[in-house]
Amino acid sequence: MTAAVASLADSAPSLVPEIRPETPQDRGAIEALLDHAFGPGRFAKASERVREFAPLRPDLSFCAWEAGRLVGVVRQSEIAVGGHRLIFLGPLAVDTRARRLGAGAKLVEIACAAAQAAGFGEVLLVGDPSFFGRLGFSAQATGQILMPGPIDPRRLLLKPLGLAGEGDDLVLQGAVTAP
Ligand SMILES: CC(C)(COP(=O)(O)OP(=O)(O)OC[C@H]1O[C@@H](n2cnc3c(N)ncnc32)[C@H](O)[C@@H]1OP(=O)(O)O)[C@@H](O)C(=O)NCCC(=O)NCCS
Repeated sequence: MTAAVASLADSAPSLVPEIRPETPQDRGAIEALLDHAFGPGRFAKASERVREFAPLRPDLSFCAWEAGRLVGVVRQSEIAVGGHRLIFLGPLAVDTRARRLGAGAKLVEIACAAAQAAGFGEVLLVGDPSFFGRLGFSAQATGQILMPGPIDPRRLLLKPLGLAGEGDDLVLQGAVTAP
């Protein structure tokens, strides 16, 4: 990239949506966005089986708004693996017209920071390693976690949040259950 192009890229306008915790009033817009983003297969995913029993944490779930329009959402639920409580992230979706401007990454970062502030040490999700890998997630420590449905194990990803007192030696093992 030439210096001129690099300088243009640096100054390119970026989406700066307002990101707020989810409220009950947001539910209709969230459902519409998720239907649009995931299509008819939305409820067939193994992640949905988790969300059937895992309580949603609206305080750790966020909506991105632009000019009064919902352009992104990330939700988080509370789960346990082998008796250890942690957060399950998803669904994550950004409106097609607002993609590739950083909103998806920003929502994940804010959700993880909120989970950490709430005292959780890890965030688990099922997702694309090439997207979530950049955000600190990996399948390295998820080989012994059992999801309630078939998944590609390379897509079961964990991000340690660096909580004091929880070292690298924590091994998450067992079925994903309600907390
Ligand atoms: C995934 C999603 C949330 C990303 O939102 P976004 O606001 O475009 O994300 P960002 O702008 O932060 O990041 C965009 C980058 O991620 C990449 N990306 C997007 N979806 C990806 C995917 N499924 N796998 C790998 N990379 C992906 C884009 O190509 C882009 O890469 P670039 O920076 O090299 O151009 C959005 O594409 C979406 O809603 N998809 C449909 C729902 C979905 O698949 N959700 C994730 C379920 S795990």
